[in-house]
Amino acid sequence: MSPQPTILVVDDEKHTRDGLRRLFENDYDVYVSADIGGAMSVLEREQIDMLLTDLRLGSEDGMTLIDRALKMSRPPICIMMTAYGSIDVAVEAMKRGAYDFVTKPLNLDKVELLIARAMQGRKLEQENRALRQQVDERYGLENIWGDSAALHEVLDTIRQVAPSSANVLIEGESGTGKELAAHAIHNLSRRNKAKFVTVHCAALSPQLLESELFGHEKGAFTGAHERRIGRFEQANGGTIFLDEVAEIDPSIQVKLLRVMSEQRAFERVGGNQTLRADVRLIAATNKNLEELVRDGKFRDDLFFRLNVVRITMPPLRNRKEDIPILVRGFLRHFCKANDKPLVELAPEAMDALLAYNWPGNVRELRTAIEHGVVMATGPKITLRDLPIALRQAATAKLPGGVSAQAFGETTSPLDLHETERKLIAQALAATNGNVTAAAKKLGISRRTLHRKINEMNVAKTSKAPRGNADVSASEGHSRGDK
Ligand SMILES: Nc1ncnc2c1ncn2[C@@H]1O[C@H](COP(=O)(O)OP(=O)(O)OP(=O)(O)O)[C@@H](O)[C@H]1O
Ligand SMILES: [Mg+2]
Repeated sequence: MSPQPTILVVDDEKHTRDGLRRLFENDYDVYVSADIGGAMSVLEREQIDMLLTDLRLGSEDGMTLIDRALKMSRPPICIMMTAYGSIDVAVEAMKRGAYDFVTKPLNLDKVELLIARAMQGRKLEQENRALRQQVDERYGLENIWGDSAALHEVLDTIRQVAPSSANVLIEGESGTGKELAAHAIHNLSRRNKAKFVTVHCAALSPQLLESELFGHEKGAFTGAHERRIGRFEQANGGTIFLDEVAEIDPSIQVKLLRVMSEQRAFERVGGNQTLRADVRLIAATNKNLEELVRDGKFRDDLFFRLNVVRITMPPLRNRKEDIPILVRGFLRHFCKANDKPLVELAPEAMDALLAYNWPGNVRELRTAIEHGVVMATGPKITLRDLPIALRQAATAKLPGGVSAQAFGETTSPLDLHETERKLIAQALAATNGNVTAAAKKLGISRRTLHRKINEMNVAKTSKAPRGNADVSASEGHSRGDK
């Protein structure tokens, strides 16, 4: 990277190019071009921060150049110069993503100021991104892997809500990462010096749960030989995570409501001293709490207290683009844990992972990769090394006769589809799940590959973009992500 910011000036008139070069050469690395071809080769070769292009480039159109520049993986800021300062052209350029426009004849002071301001904005944006990455790395968002839009939405919400003291309700199917998200919220919050305390609400009878949450005094019940501090007291100043909150008995729901109200009050079981706890509450459920409220099984006032901010973890089948990244992470983890050199996934194994419906979500994927790492005898995890459910799904999905070599004769649209899927799986397997590298291999953009991965097999079911497209095939839960 050059230490100076870079600017590319495109104009078919030599005196404009020269004038702008002189204007910028003290503060920027300046590149110039008279046409789109020359400009594109600079854009492909150099990391250009700013593109300043004339609208009329001989017979060519500067708008075309802006369109192409904005499609690059790290697009420059684009500014249009036009002698035809009509509002229409300016509006059109901005609509297509240009930052601003200037009219000719150029007022150089104005141009200089505009460019400096745009550069400043870009620098701030880059600094922000770098800072955010540092924060993520330090506080555990980097443990939540994935690059889908749905996951990014979740991460953004986590970043946003974490510093507040708002209670958070995390819903989502089993294995989607609810506990991981709860941890991240705590780690990113101002309470991260105090404890994060987890209570598995489903595992305990109402009596035991009450004493677990609030503690008990000596002799409160048979077997209570000592005074015991409850989870709320332990979590004081920190965060309490109530897992499977829907399972809490109504008798305990009342007591929870009290500790969550303004008084924050509770008593230990068998005690009459009223205690107070400063605790942030995060609750998780794979049930539809609203439905339970409607059926009178969950208190509505408690629901409102819990549901200040709601985060919905999307099921894995609706974000298949995350699979390669997750696979890569789990491969590294389990190879290391098993003292094995890093193994790869064979293309047909990757294909099976992409085709599968994942009722158990990320947890099931994690287990599948662990299974594969343990079972693999060679340098590659093959279909045979994967758990039976995946193997069965893979054989059920593949129509007979389509093989990995079937690139030549594609006779029906289905073949074409299958062939594409195979190619994608192969590229991902060859790059160890690295989407960027796989996209390069396939000669398509990263974004396109993301989309294609996500669309795989979804097209065969009814297509509900972000809803529970085929939730009937999943087990033991009653809702998707909306
Ligand atoms: N995005 C992710 N990146 C990395 N690991 C993940 C991700 N999502 C989930 N996992 C892993 O998958 C497993 C299940 O996640 P977690 O326990 O957070 O799910 P959950 O939603 O709480 O499940 P349950 O409802 O069954 O309690 C864990 O091992 C977790 O580390
Ligand atoms: Mg959990």
